[in-house]
Amino acid sequence: MLIDLKGKTVLVTGASSGIGRQIAIELGAAGAAVAVHYNLHEDEAIELAAETGNGSKAFKADLGIAQAAGDLFDTVVEEYGQVDVLVNNAGIFEPCPVESPKEEWLESWNRTLAVNLTSTGILCRAAINHFVEKGGGRIVNIASRAAFRGETRDYLAYAASKGGMVSLSRSIARSFGKKGVKSFVIAPGFVRTPMAEAVIDEEVVVRTELALGEMTTPGDIAPLVVLMASGKLDHATGSTVDINAGSYMR
Ligand SMILES: NC(=O)c1ccc[n+]([C@@H]2O[C@H](COP(=O)([O-])OP(=O)(O)OC[C@H]3O[C@@H](n4cnc5c(N)ncnc54)[C@H](OP(=O)(O)O)[C@@H]3O)[C@@H](O)[C@H]2O)c1
Repeated sequence: MLIDLKGKTVLVTGASSGIGRQIAIELGAAGAAVAVHYNLHEDEAIELAAETGNGSKAFKADLGIAQAAGDLFDTVVEEYGQVDVLVNNAGIFEPCPVESPKEEWLESWNRTLAVNLTSTGILCRAAINHFVEKGGGRIVNIASRAAFRGETRDYLAYAASKGGMVSLSRSIARSFGKKGVKSFVIAPGFVRTPMAEAVIDEEVVVRTELALGEMTTPGDIAPLVVLMASGKLDHATGSTVDINAGSYMR
């Protein structure tokens, strides 16, 4: 199957690292211009945009700030004239035990919801309006196994944010399909990236959690994003694909 994304513009949030980085590389290899979003890792994003080619460029925004999320979409549209696909991938995974002081817990909850869910909502809103006006477009939301299985005790906010992404995505698919807007979710289990490496022992995870004998990598996620972006999966709009090495089967 040949996938040609030449002439398409894709905004990938959190493309400076891990899963987002690989998504940008593979979209670029399929011919897309990628708006490589980053927050702190500017050098990595600029380098990646150059490597991705097709007119790809780096765009900074702190997605913990609502205004910045809204501005990001507008800036990318201004730069390219249009966006065809939005990939909401940026996210944080920070522990916040229920035993923490109330203010600390709430700060962490709000930070997690702001980056993982509110920014996704803001970007989806902007994308829906843009897509309806231009006759269609696609959204891919990178959620998590945690949305369905739940997460461990210190990551309640993370699981809640990812559950929110799933219901948001389904609502978009139901409501705007006839206007040409398609919306998909990918729900990874642990993936070998800086986020997972900070909290897991890979050998233990493979031995105790996975059906497969090896850890999932960003290269196991990115091809599906390319397929979703291409339109070849449009009749799966609203659906979620689990990529978790058989660690959790719904
Ligand atoms: N790795 C896993 O095991 C796993 C499992 C399930 C789901 N996921 C999901 O997959 C997505 C990517 O995760 P990853 O493992 O690739 O993580 P990662 O390597 O830690 O990368 C996270 C990305 O999000 C960006 N980001 C973080 N905070 C931000 C903020 N305040 N504003 C804007 N951007 C921000 C980072 O940008 P800068 O570095 O430039 O600041 C970076 O590009 C996340 O949504 C995560 O929840 C990951």
